Amino acid sequence: MSKQTDDFFKNVISHAKEYGFVFPSSEIYDGLSAVYDYGQMGAELKNNIKTYWWKAMVQLHENIVGLDSAIFMHPTIWKASGHVDGFNDPMIDNKDSKKRYRADQLIEDKIARYVADGKTDKAAKLQADLDTALSADDLPRLKSLIEEHEIVCPVSGTRNWTDVRQFNLMFSTQMGASAEGAEVVYLRPETAQGIFVNFLNVQKTGRQKIPFGIAQIGKAFRNEVIARQFIMRMREFEQMEMQFFVRPGTELDWYAQWKETRLKWHLALGSDQRKYRFHDHVKLAHYANAAVDIEYEFPFGFKEVEGIHSRTDFDLSQHQKFSGKKLQYFDPEINQNYVPYVIETSIGLDRMFLTVLCNAFEEQNISSEEKQDSRTVLHLHPVLAPVKAAIFPLIKKDGLPEKAKEILKQLQLEHNVIYEEKDAIGKRYRRQDAIGTPFCITVDHQTLQDDSVTIRHRDSMEQKRISISALSSKIAELVSWKNLLEQLL
Ligand code: GAP
Repeated sequence: MSKQTDDFFKNVISHAKEYGFVFPSSEIYDGLSAVYDYGQMGAELKNNIKTYWWKAMVQLHENIVGLDSAIFMHPTIWKASGHVDGFNDPMIDNKDSKKRYRADQLIEDKIARYVADGKTDKAAKLQADLDTALSADDLPRLKSLIEEHEIVCPVSGTRNWTDVRQFNLMFSTQMGASAEGAEVVYLRPETAQGIFVNFLNVQKTGRQKIPFGIAQIGKAFRNEVIARQFIMRMREFEQMEMQFFVRPGTELDWYAQWKETRLKWHLALGSDQRKYRFHDHVKLAHYANAAVDIEYEFPFGFKEVEGIHSRTDFDLSQHQKFSGKKLQYFDPEINQNYVPYVIETSIGLDRMFLTVLCNAFEEQNISSEEKQDSRTVLHLHPVLAPVKAAIFPLIKKDGLPEKAKEILKQLQLEHNVIYEEKDAIGKRYRRQDAIGTPFCITVDHQTLQDDSVTIRHRDSMEQKRISISALSSKIAELVSWKNLLEQLL
């Protein structure tokens, strides 16, 4: 990361805390690594992102329905899905610092340093060696790459490494009252399995015909060994996943369609198209026949925000085998029973939140000939903005607060709006810019005469006079779900 992008990212993180978007969890106890809380603004923004996803997936598609499955599930589910045996990261410890690292990430960091130093041949060779070792699950080879490339522990600076070992990422706990009778259960590492095991329940009770999808938003837990990049890699996070069940043989057409549909969803928020790219998986998981990531260019480089995977019939077949229950569909069009194939779209809500923040954050120079000035502004899409409008009385007397509160009461019925009377008006504008409020409404002495107010637009900072009676429809038009969703059609 260059100094400039490093500073930008640090500023985004401190802004998120200062304005009530994201707090480190348990902060008064010095925090809990890779766990975060969403504050008053963050909770609103997060809910708006969820709503955008839910409306785009469930409301706009006749053949997609929602689900809210439990976090705890029968432990055999995780055996069937492959998570008990295969959901591992290769770890290595430094014996001097006692710090634990992901072996592949240590090597990736070295590759990045080779690239930064212009040693692109060395970088390419190491990348190829890493890929080969990972796909063969060759842990001794990972260690020998660390040794050959003289990778040192960032803390102790030494090369005194342990062997590389597999470390399962699932959190487990016990269910049941007594220690003897207690059963080990897992905190789900993905929401998808809750969808797979409910496939027949939803298909039968909803009388769904293939192709159809099941969408779910919920918490997932992974014991990530390396906490990195703020809310990018967390131990407790949220996923928005959709499994689309299709007839075998049609899956790659649906995969292509879902790739385009999902990218459109991201771009409709007005983000710069150049900041997004597809990254095809070269090495596919054994159950997938196509997989791609949608990556966003964060200050620390292009990283995955969403995955789109063609998972064949792997999950349903595994659950059929482990549960002994048939998970098949009778397709009347071809008069056949089959286990459906699945296209999955899986996006991390917290990563999407970070994408939105990084994309919106600007430290803007607004100096004029008369005065040097700057502001920090979040150019959030109005639909996502935590607060849609702030209402200010110009001063705290002459009946202006009362009039402003009347407007608040009227607008509150439709939108999340707030009232502010503290500090000079300029300061109040800056505070709203910093949380991304698209509109500020000021009640002044003219309001008492002609029932008009000024409305200031966050991005242009332009102010216009408008009658109070027109306010509600003006705001509704600018924060309309309809206008945003229409772009997805
Ligand atoms: N069901 C498929 C699945 O879980 P994944 O690529 O492991 O696939 C999907 O995760 C998405 O979940 C990722 O694209 C990412 O946005 C998010 N995600 C995964 N691990 C995460 C973590 N530790 N912290 C935050 N988000 C995470």
